[in-house]
Amino acid sequence: MSAVIELIDVRKSYGSQEVLKGVNLSIDEGKTTVIVGGSGQGKSQIIKHSLGLISPDSGQVKVFGQDINNISKKDLRKIRMEFGVLFQNSALFDSMTVYDNVALPLRERTKFPESKIKGIVEERLELMDVVGSNDKYPAQISGGMKKRVGLARALVLDPKIIFFDEPTTGLDVAKSNEIYRAFFRTQAQLKYTAVIVSHDVPKIFKLADYVALLYNGVMQSCITPEEFQLSDDPAVKEFVEKTMGSLYSSEVEEII
Ligand SMILES: Nc1ncnc2c1ncn2[C@@H]1O[C@H](COP(=O)(O)OP(=O)(O)OP(=O)(O)O)[C@@H](O)[C@H]1O
Ligand SMILES: [Mg+2]
Repeated sequence: MSAVIELIDVRKSYGSQEVLKGVNLSIDEGKTTVIVGGSGQGKSQIIKHSLGLISPDSGQVKVFGQDINNISKKDLRKIRMEFGVLFQNSALFDSMTVYDNVALPLRERTKFPESKIKGIVEERLELMDVVGSNDKYPAQISGGMKKRVGLARALVLDPKIIFFDEPTTGLDVAKSNEIYRAFFRTQAQLKYTAVIVSHDVPKIFKLADYVALLYNGVMQSCITPEEFQLSDDPAVKEFVEKTMGSLYSSEVEEII
């Protein structure tokens, strides 16, 4: 299995606050890695470092084997063409229709004619179950639909790696389930590598190949959901108990 992204001893401080204290993380090709951890631990920072939007104070970020902080702007642009991103609070552009929001990356980054763009945009929107809303503005659609439009936009350039920062936060259970279904459908079809930040424990374990816990400025683990839920590591154990309840761990012990 090859790593498409590697963070090697990444450190980052803001003023006197040391946020990342030597993060090591390896993202396997074609797999879904879910990053969990408390608010303010630095999960979004991990994504921004991986995208090359922020440079570490020390350490390396490698994407497809290249140190993205030591390559030309042109090469970084090329790498970014392979990324699909849904930022936390996934901002759609309010003044653009659903259709134009999704078409934007294609118009900005390719020279495709409008007829080809139309085919791609409509296919992606359909995959996300957003049909008949092309001419609506973000204010005219529901929260869940906005997220799905954001996902459609993130997938429009056929990315090799997608980054979703809290794709279901703020949605009710039914709406987040819709997002997960859309995720499964698209990953089965497009076969991308996924890095997802989520608070949606334990549901997120169902779609994770690996779960990585960021705590106290370091990645405490990057293991399968099964290993994660049974881990003896104190930080992981505490996280599991806090998010899933101590009842859960005693149930597991009984089963074993
Ligand atoms: N530009 C910045 N200037 C100063 N501090 C920053 C900056 N960006 C991030 N931080 C700090 O870094 C820490 C980690 O932020 P980050 O947004 O990555 O957390 P998070 O784990 O994504 O939290 P949440 O779950 O709430 O989204 C926070 O304490 C934040 O205040
Ligand atoms: Mg965040």
